[in-house]
Amino acid sequence: MSTLYAISGVAGMTGNELVRQILEKDHGNDDHVLGFDNFFASSMETIEDCIQDKRFDFFPYDINNTMQMKCFEENVANRKDSYDEIIYINCAAVVHTEHFYHVYDTFETNVLGMNEFMQQAIRVGAQKYIHCSTSEVYSMDSWNESGGVKESDFLTMSHAEHSQRTSYAMGKLLTEFFMKDAVDAGKIKGCSIRFANVYSKNERFPKHIIPFIINSFRDNGKVVLLENSRKNRRTFLNNYDSCSAVLALAGTDSALDGTVYNVATDEEISMIDLAKLCASKMGISDPVIEFQGYRASDPERRLLSTEKIRARTQWKPVIGLDKGLDECIANYLNR
Ligand SMILES: NC(=O)c1ccc[n+]([C@@H]2O[C@H](COP(=O)([O-])OP(=O)(O)OC[C@H]3O[C@@H](n4cnc5c(N)ncnc54)[C@H](O)[C@@H]3O)[C@@H](O)[C@H]2O)c1
Repeated sequence: MSTLYAISGVAGMTGNELVRQILEKDHGNDDHVLGFDNFFASSMETIEDCIQDKRFDFFPYDINNTMQMKCFEENVANRKDSYDEIIYINCAAVVHTEHFYHVYDTFETNVLGMNEFMQQAIRVGAQKYIHCSTSEVYSMDSWNESGGVKESDFLTMSHAEHSQRTSYAMGKLLTEFFMKDAVDAGKIKGCSIRFANVYSKNERFPKHIIPFIINSFRDNGKVVLLENSRKNRRTFLNNYDSCSAVLALAGTDSALDGTVYNVATDEEISMIDLAKLCASKMGISDPVIEFQGYRASDPERRLLSTEKIRARTQWKPVIGLDKGLDECIANYLNR
């Protein structure tokens, strides 16, 4: 079975690891990856280890640029007869928290771009569209005491009366409706994925909390966390596991019913304990942790049930936080 993958945002944390896993599992050398990115939050550096592989073609394209997307579509169309299956994976997005509060920063790429890319997939006759949504859609009800929030739970959204933060989540929620609509109409198979707090040892744009903590201890000998961190707890998902979930879903036709899948771990840790754990792994025995600033509408916990994906696919996370942090620290300190 040969597959042609078309991946948006391919240089990002999820995209670049997806390419690595696809090329690694493709022992028959039959698969091919076409990917693009506009380097909004990445660079060639993130894909430099894959770029020489003849099974991967990269294009410096913007998902919102009509001409560039037309070229990308033609490229897929020209190749499609050589493959048994075409799978689109949408990773392009404006992601980081600093953008969440600015609706115009996120809307075009995350909402319109997602839908345009899906319409392209339908036009070229792709069989599947896997879409990255977010666990941010759980908003203020991001946890419960019975094993975590489920995909079918009703949502209690924080909205513009409270904070602009949720504009990012609302946009992503809308894309889950686009996905479901396309599948219900029989145009394509697919699903949306709600990741929770993905991190990577290869992160080049260290805005997420784990690289931020490690780099702060390394560069300043202390870390300054938000006031929210006095209470907040999170789970963290290694990007090896987030990508293996994408491929597990892409490989399970029966799971591609247009619905949503939580992808997360259940290894919860307080932000203060996370900072202390990083410090101790870096050999700092009495770490200085300060608090400054406050983030509105930031849920105190985020705990997702992954019962659904585990029941429908073989997926389970394999990199625990302990191992993941060791890899991050080794990589960031070496850089
Ligand atoms: N990282 C997380 O914790 C997390 C959590 C939940 C959901 N997600 C979702 O997973 C997906 C992948 O996120 P990621 O963690 O890899 O983020 P990332 O920022 O590392 O990757 C996104 C990529 O999209 C690219 N991009 C942005 N705008 C673009 C545009 N207009 N055209 C082409 N490319 C563009 C960026 O340059 C970047 O390389 C996103 O949809 C994100 O919303 C991530």
